[in-house]
Amino acid sequence: MAVTGSTGGLGGRIARRLAERGVPQRLVVRDPARAPELPGATVVAADYGDGEAMRAALAGVGTLLLVSASETEDRVARHLSAVEAAAAAGVEHVVYVSFYGAAPDATFTLARHHWRTEEAVRATGAGFTFLRDSLYQDVLPYFVGPDGVIRGPAGDGRCGFVARDDIADVAVAVLLEPAAHNGRTYSLTGPETLTFHEVATELGAQSGHPVTYQAETLAEAYASRASYGAPDWMVEGWVTSYAAVATGELDGTTDDVARVAGRAPQSFAEYLRRNPAELNRIRALT
Ligand SMILES: NC(=O)c1ccc[n+]([C@@H]2O[C@H](COP(=O)([O-])OP(=O)(O)OC[C@H]3O[C@@H](n4cnc5c(N)ncnc54)[C@H](OP(=O)(O)O)[C@@H]3O)[C@@H](O)[C@H]2O)c1
Repeated sequence: MAVTGSTGGLGGRIARRLAERGVPQRLVVRDPARAPELPGATVVAADYGDGEAMRAALAGVGTLLLVSASETEDRVARHLSAVEAAAAAGVEHVVYVSFYGAAPDATFTLARHHWRTEEAVRATGAGFTFLRDSLYQDVLPYFVGPDGVIRGPAGDGRCGFVARDDIADVAVAVLLEPAAHNGRTYSLTGPETLTFHEVATELGAQSGHPVTYQAETLAEAYASRASYGAPDWMVEGWVTSYAAVATGELDGTTDDVARVAGRAPQSFAEYLRRNPAELNRIRALT
């Protein structure tokens, strides 16, 4: 079994869980010096965009966990390169970390990348399982600006934010028994949907620092991010992640975490209670 993304938040959680269960794994990383040291794990270096290195890294691998790449302008090309390499190496089953509601015309531009990658995986003829994650609960404390305000064009829309720990438990269940999950697409959400007003209220209640949400228009959202100096595709990704909440595309919960991981997903309030250090940034705001 090969696991990508182990130097990151989600892949690291999955690799640690597999190691705790005594599962041998090959960690495919860009920088071996940053790979986690885990019993039963070997480390190989490859970037998704380097087809030759990926093919060599995946030689003899039966099941691959493919964590979606960091956001870059050529992200889809890197994903497609990794998928092609997996097929060339004879990988039998790809577990791909996708996004809730991935579609060619999704409002959230990065969800379109996920759809294209899913299509490429399907086209290889290999076995597959797609984990379509909602927005992470884990990132919400970092949406709060220095003035204690979350700003975005999400209107009063709702989203089924999910914790990376829950996604990791689902991924491990799938990786341990890929044939049982072959051809399945799981939409991974928390147990409830929340508006950004409700997210702000929870962050305020648990941090002790007032947090509010201010809905922006699309034009205001682009204008308020114009000074960051970020490339257009990146700003569009930020803005449209909120806009997809406004359209209702992220409004929904499923029982896929419970069915696959065997336990209920945690709520955002539970997530914050279990990870209080994630609120330190907000507590430190003046
Ligand atoms: N649903 C959401 O709300 C949400 C939020 C943020 C991100 N995401 C997506 O979910 C993915 C996993 O989340 P995370 O929290 O684990 O992100 P993360 O902590 O940034 O980890 C990303 C991992 O992917 C690896 N990676 C990135 N690009 C790569 C490439 N071109 N070739 C090989 N490895 C590559 C990174 O390696 P390095 O350490 O070498 O960079 C890192 O190990 C992210 O990469 C992103 O696509 C989703």
